Amino acid sequence: MYACICNGIKDSQVRDAAQRGAGTVGQVFRSLDCKPNCATCVQTIRNLLEEELLPENTLIAAE
Ligand code: FES
Repeated sequence: MYACICNGIKDSQVRDAAQRGAGTVGQVFRSLDCKPNCATCVQTIRNLLEEELLPENTLIAAE
């Protein structure tokens, strides 16, 4: 799945960037030597970072 269509960034690349230390959307773009264009992907990338950076088995209370 593509996380950013403008730059052809796949979700796996975002996850890899997170594992290499990227913790923000800007850091993901910089680590992939890209720049945001339309910014439609910002929330998707944020969500991927949160998923990747949360410790395993962390439960988030929805209430
Ligand atoms: S979809 Fe990422 S900048 Fe446009």
